Amino acid sequence: MAALLEAKDVEAFYGPTRVLKGISFEVAEGGITTILGANGAGKTTTLRAISGLVRTRGEIRFAGHRIDGLATEKIAALGIAHVPDGRGTLVNMSVEENLRVGAYLRRNKAEVAASMERMYGYFPRLRERQQQQAGTLSGGEQQMLAISRALMQRPKLLLLDEPSFGLAPLIIREIFDIMRVINQQEGVSILLVEQNVARALALADHAWLLETGSTVMSGTAQALRDDEQIRRSYLGF
Ligand SMILES: Nc1ncnc2c1ncn2[C@@H]1O[C@H](COP(=O)(O)OP(=O)(O)OP(=O)(O)O)[C@@H](O)[C@H]1O
Ligand SMILES: [Mg+2]
Repeated sequence: MAALLEAKDVEAFYGPTRVLKGISFEVAEGGITTILGANGAGKTTTLRAISGLVRTRGEIRFAGHRIDGLATEKIAALGIAHVPDGRGTLVNMSVEENLRVGAYLRRNKAEVAASMERMYGYFPRLRERQQQQAGTLSGGEQQMLAISRALMQRPKLLLLDEPSFGLAPLIIREIFDIMRVINQQEGVSILLVEQNVARALALADHAWLLETGSTVMSGTAQALRDDEQIRRSYLGF
């Protein structure tokens, strides 16, 4: 598969501190790619680098465009939606208003309504709570809303930062199952950052392993699952 996103020798900085030390990775068009790594490895920073939220060096290409150095809104408009860690719903707005905000760049009202209907189809709990304030939703419902809101942008690439964080196993399973359906039905490619390695490798087709700001391994999800050292260090069996 062709690469939708290509990062080459990307460094990222917080002030003078270099947190990403020249990482290279790709996200295949139509695929689900995961970036794995321990706390502090630089996973969140990698997504922030793609979205233009942190100072970078190196090259990031997306769908034929060079996007490093572009403003975050431009990157979003090119087709990248970012669900940050800690969710990112607008807590004082209703579920429905959150979805509308997600579609702010779209002009065709009928299409927006159709997308909203599809989101409620994926996540029926959101339909039941259309008028409820986002801040009063459960953690799982907020994650569903954050993902739906990002999809309302109709992105080509969805960046997901630890969607499983703080959620019960059953809800994680539900969300990950739906992510697969969304990947196929919406034709959206996904870059998933996760600490839940087993779940991420079950969903993704390709994985990159990050260690203190460097990529130390990559391969098919199957290859990483079968790797003895990965199993022992990250999967615990
Ligand atoms: N705003 C910031 N200012 C300075 N340093 C930061 C900032 N944000 C992150 N860092 C540092 O950058 C490094 C990578 O952080 P990052 O959040 O990307 O890790 P992560 O892999 O997402 O970790 P986690 O699994 O805990 O979410 C860490 O050492 C962190 O302390
Ligand atoms: Mg993080």
